[in-house]
Amino acid sequence: MAQSIPPVGKLQGKVALVTGGASGIGETTVRLFAIHGARAVVIADIMDDKGQKLAEAIGSSQSQCAYRRCDVTDEDQVKAAVEWTVTTYGQLDVIFCNAGIASPSDQALLELDFAEFDRLMVVNARGVAACVKHAARAMVERLVRGSIVCTASVVASKGGWKHTDYIMSKHAVLALVRAASQQLGEHGIRVNCVSPFMVATPLTCDLMGLKAEELEKMFAPYTSLRGTPLRPGDVADAVLFLASDESRFVSGHDLKVDGGFETW
Ligand SMILES: NC(=O)c1ccc[n+]([C@@H]2O[C@H](COP(=O)([O-])OP(=O)(O)OC[C@H]3O[C@@H](n4cnc5c(N)ncnc54)[C@H](O)[C@@H]3O)[C@@H](O)[C@H]2O)c1
Repeated sequence: MAQSIPPVGKLQGKVALVTGGASGIGETTVRLFAIHGARAVVIADIMDDKGQKLAEAIGSSQSQCAYRRCDVTDEDQVKAAVEWTVTTYGQLDVIFCNAGIASPSDQALLELDFAEFDRLMVVNARGVAACVKHAARAMVERLVRGSIVCTASVVASKGGWKHTDYIMSKHAVLALVRAASQQLGEHGIRVNCVSPFMVATPLTCDLMGLKAEELEKMFAPYTSLRGTPLRPGDVADAVLFLASDESRFVSGHDLKVDGGFETW
């Protein structure tokens, strides 16, 4: 990941919205978008304190950056966040639909808890669909040939011993990306997703009760790049590629950031 401001940023002049932008993969991507010259980056999240502090830190040194509270489970809030972005900055070029959660229990099929299942699906599947819908509407209305990037997961194309609801929700994200890329292509809008392997973030560290270094050590042997841990910056680099004009003919693609895990 670039550490300093590149001579020509890959998102020069673009306006981007990042859901789940206050923490983990989203936070790292917000920082990278700003480094790459985005004219404005809007952080949409429910962690007000973290989101506001991040926006202030970036806004004082690089791009314009703002925090908007937006619970992606509420379509009205998603619509409002998109409209606020367009009204404030004139347009929306990029959305990174990244907000997501995991259920607190294992959610193995024989013990599946449907209250947890519904709580997760409404964030991970319906929330992403709401974001894609309203971002796409804003782009179509203003004739913006934008880029929509979603966060799926390596489990979007695999099964698993547990976390049934999470696996199902990420399959849904991949299906949404495929359907949306077909439907929005005629407007010049590209829709893709990134599918990360296990990366140490507050979500995974809290879920597994491990520190970042412990989690990285535990999962590093499972990819073909044994010993090289996946970091949030590696995922952000893939998102930047899909968000930028470097990928102008890439749509409907699932970019796996998994160190070769898929080929096992
Ligand atoms: N960490 C991993 O190993 C991994 C692997 C594959 C995919 N993912 C996916 O990456 C995405 C980001 O996760 P992360 O690991 O950075 O976790 P994280 O917990 O650090 O970040 C998730 C962010 O989403 C926000 N969020 C949660 N519910 C929300 C809601 N209803 N509305 C708006 N924002 C909400 C959280 O407040 C948080 O800022 C998720 O979609 C996750 O499923 C993570």
